[in-house]
Amino acid sequence: MLNEKVVALLNDQINKELYSAYLYLDMANYVGDLGLDGFAHWYELQAGEERDHALKIRKYLIENDEKVVLEAIAKPDKIFDGALSVLEAGYEHEQYVTSLIHDIYDVAIDTKDWRTAQFLDWFVKEQLEEEESARDLITKYKLFANDGAGLYELNKELGKR
Ligand code: FEO
Repeated sequence: MLNEKVVALLNDQINKELYSAYLYLDMANYVGDLGLDGFAHWYELQAGEERDHALKIRKYLIENDEKVVLEAIAKPDKIFDGALSVLEAGYEHEQYVTSLIHDIYDVAIDTKDWRTAQFLDWFVKEQLEEEESARDLITKYKLFANDGAGLYELNKELGKR
């Protein structure tokens, strides 16, 4: 049996991960509307990864005989102003998710829930990668997307993810 507070936070994190999936789909829609199909493809796959994160936590709760509680998923409410703003919002969001994972980790440690701490290690590492790839998109955009040809190539590259 896991600590009650940890279970509540993990359930909440399922919701946050599903919201992340929703947010990335919203981003895919936005960049798709701009004609950037490669960017849209990148965000569609990212949405799938977020869903996988939610399922990973769901599985962990079930394995521990804890109840999974699904709440309503909030409407994505980010306002975008061009492709770069989407990339920046993605990076900002990943930093936020990192803080959520760290908060759960803190509670797991405080309550001597070593099992959950070990489970969360995967997410701590994953967040490093998520932040890095989000930051990398911004760097590449600023470096290469200054003209139509650069943007075309970057869009093509992201379409290969
Ligand atoms: Fe599930 Fe992108 O953090």
